Amino acid sequence: MLTQLAQAVYVVAAILFILSLAGLSKQTSARRGVTLGMVGMGLALGATVMLAADQSERPVPLTLVLILVVLVVGATVGAWRARSVEMTQMPELIAILHSFVGLAAVAVGYDSYLTERATAGAGGSVHLIEVFLGVLIGAVTFTGSIVAYLKLSARMRSAPLTLPGRNWLNLGALVASLGLLVWFVVDPASGLVALGIMTVIALLLGFHMVAAIGGGDMPVVVSMLNSYSGWAAAAAGFMLGNDLLIVTGALVGSSGAILSYIMCKAMNRSFVSVILGGFGSAGGQVAASGDVEQGEHREILADGVADMLRAARSVVITPGYGMAVAKAQYPVAELVSRLRAQGVNVRFGVHPVAGRLPGHMNVLLAEAKVPYDIVLEMDEINDDFTDTDVVLVIGANDTVNPAALEDPNSPIAGMPVLEVWHAGQVIVFKRSMATGYAGVQNPLFFRDNTQMLFGDAKDQVEKIVQAL
Ligand code: TAP
Repeated sequence: MLTQLAQAVYVVAAILFILSLAGLSKQTSARRGVTLGMVGMGLALGATVMLAADQSERPVPLTLVLILVVLVVGATVGAWRARSVEMTQMPELIAILHSFVGLAAVAVGYDSYLTERATAGAGGSVHLIEVFLGVLIGAVTFTGSIVAYLKLSARMRSAPLTLPGRNWLNLGALVASLGLLVWFVVDPASGLVALGIMTVIALLLGFHMVAAIGGGDMPVVVSMLNSYSGWAAAAAGFMLGNDLLIVTGALVGSSGAILSYIMCKAMNRSFVSVILGGFGSAGGQVAASGDVEQGEHREILADGVADMLRAARSVVITPGYGMAVAKAQYPVAELVSRLRAQGVNVRFGVHPVAGRLPGHMNVLLAEAKVPYDIVLEMDEINDDFTDTDVVLVIGANDTVNPAALEDPNSPIAGMPVLEVWHAGQVIVFKRSMATGYAGVQNPLFFRDNTQMLFGDAKDQVEKIVQAL
């Protein structure tokens, strides 16, 4: 009886998860999406407890206590981390959480194999394949996510590890795993040995695959690992015969894959070239002066920018990673409301990969209560720069780099960018002449209509607000 009820609750939870994803696709409905997801997860947990109580051979109170203890530990750690994490640390938090999903899939795989190994026949083979694939994907996700976490939190060099013949190493690992799968299914007596060897190979493969990917591509990798963790969860769902886990895993797996695709498109990189690695460098270094001679840059002070804004009719702000680092969104929102009060048409132009995670800028601006209707996507604003008096580039660099369109040899050639240089005046807020995440120099800084406002973005915007 409880089992049937739990299955019905699972269906409701699955529908809520789908509605949650749909809600998350727009800023205006994102809050509702999160709430629906939370309700869905609450129901799923409740149903899982019902199932465990109904199906376990243990006394019901003991099962409940065990589940409760695990829930309290998980919820306490989760709530503490979610409260204390900085927005800029979000990708690394997501990466480490994916590693847990991978580890869980490995644990479920081994448990499922050891407790149900007696099954024979075609059904038994299918189960063995589920176990093998679950452990394989889980192990790759586990070490891959740990490397992603270490790189994103700067505990490991973000430059790609380029071993000789690295693609052959990955291919060799996959071929060896395929051979081990055959051994595992054909000879159940020594299956644990095959499973063990494959686990070690998959752990090394996950490490190597992500270590070979450079700094600029890390957010795509996080999204890709998100996808893997979904497939690992789906595989665990098959092993446990848990329909909701299969549905949820498939949702996570496919949405992660779609997000990776969208990000690659926005950076003009092919998904395969991201996976094969070797691109990108540790960002934030001062560009080598021996590169192409760019000419002189001009500087301006906050008072000068305030004068310029007073005379402007139309202003576009293009935020980037630096706005997040400086936490400048609050004074920026204040600046915007002042200018709007004086009748200036102020809008934001947000590049799809500005910052370090999808929707990064939108989240920050929403946090500072900037009205949604003045926050436009790159495609919506790019044609309007010619009619714009002043563009404030606040902590953005790669996403406003004209070299992407004008220099076919640039590492970011072909990436669509915000064409801010078509505006009357461009003010670039940053602390130095250092490069952005892709490590390439930005000719925008040396254009005739560009002036640099050096210093922390938050301090500088506050100074402008004061001067106004
Ligand atoms: P970036 O190119 O990373 O440049 C950020 C700039 O902010 C830096 O040049 C830095 O210059 C400046 N900055 C840092 N701290 C600052 C502070 N406190 N005050 C003022 N300025 C500060 O930023 P972007 O234009 O947003 O581009 C994002 C990059 O990440 C792209 O290369 C993109 O491809 C990559 N990426 C993003 C994503 C997603 S999903 N968002 C995914 C994959 C890759 P200084 O050091 O001189 O201050």
